[in-house]
Amino acid sequence: MIRLTIPSIEEDDLKAARDVLQSGFLVQGAQVAEFEKTIASYVGVKHVIAVSNCTAALHLSLLALDVRPGDLVLVTTYSWVATANVIELCGAQPVFVDIQPDTFNMDPELLAKTMGRLMATAETARRVKAILPVHTFGQMADMTAITKIAEQYGVPVIEDAACALGAKWEDRQAGSWGIMGCFSFHPRKAITTGEGGAITTNDDQLARKLRALRNHGLDPEASSPEFIMPGFNYRMTEFQAAFGSSQMKKLDRIIAARRRLAHHYDSLLENDPVLMPAVPSQSFHVYQSYVTLLPNGAAPRRAEIIRQLKEQGIETNIGTWHMPLTTYFRSRYGYRAGDFPASEDVFARALTLPLYENLTAENQNIVVDRLLDTTG
Ligand SMILES: Cc1ncc(COP(=O)(O)O)c(C=O)c1O
Repeated sequence: MIRLTIPSIEEDDLKAARDVLQSGFLVQGAQVAEFEKTIASYVGVKHVIAVSNCTAALHLSLLALDVRPGDLVLVTTYSWVATANVIELCGAQPVFVDIQPDTFNMDPELLAKTMGRLMATAETARRVKAILPVHTFGQMADMTAITKIAEQYGVPVIEDAACALGAKWEDRQAGSWGIMGCFSFHPRKAITTGEGGAITTNDDQLARKLRALRNHGLDPEASSPEFIMPGFNYRMTEFQAAFGSSQMKKLDRIIAARRRLAHHYDSLLENDPVLMPAVPSQSFHVYQSYVTLLPNGAAPRRAEIIRQLKEQGIETNIGTWHMPLTTYFRSRYGYRAGDFPASEDVFARALTLPLYENLTAENQNIVVDRLLDTTG
């Protein structure tokens, strides 16, 4: 089977985790702090707060901005459901903004329109608390345009950079643009800690609040225990952090391999009816996933195409989710087919191809041959 993804795990990663496990010091030690330092220096930010997963990272980021019941958060339509779920879990309401059909990222023109509409009325203007773009499949959203709109209205941006560690827009790292950035270390990402996440920020006050929220509300700066707010246990374990620090040493190598393999797919798909991912000139794409678009006519058969490829030993998958039409959001807010046409079209046509560091060019050739046969 040519697998969709295989994490790059080597003996030194295992040893790093094993050493910590054998030490008996499994939580709240030096390893998490070390992992945080490594990521901070890589992304180029002052603070990193490691947490149990990216969903926790997103949840804490919203809470750190005091997002409360009745508030509004502008968010992309096309993402893993966690991106919108965390808004609901704060009691706030997502205001969905459709995507660009070629990059799959939040469309800045639609963001400007939606923001303009909300800000034109005092009642909605006071409820707008954040903009939450996603760097979809490892490619950054147009942060130049999004930042400009955010600054115009004085609304903070939280980057959902779950899939985008190492990605850049105009040569600037994902997670260094917004007031906070959220990363995932789930096994489908370039580097993994099993489950795991991190929040990046340059803001001292937010960092302090995030550290307290992650750890039962305990003041991270007090010399004796002070519980300054209600908090969660969203901590990362020491052995995960040691594993993560070891993985970080390979990140650039893994990204280079993924980019090389993605470019090989591009060359195979050039001039084919199955479309390769679009990459704007400002973007350094890290290809957490290589997501193609099936021709319109093949979209209704996508489940069948995935099944047929599997029978031939090739694992593929859909892209991600059109969140407004998932059962919860549709029934809560009454969204209908046609409300967000770009996201809906991409949701129907996207097909993710196998991609991992040690995938061979021969196997990529087989994947594309069979894919083109199957899509006819
Ligand atoms: C865009 C996006 N945001 C958030 C998440 C949630 O990450 P985690 O699984 O680490 O909670 C994911 C997970 O894949 C994701 O793709």
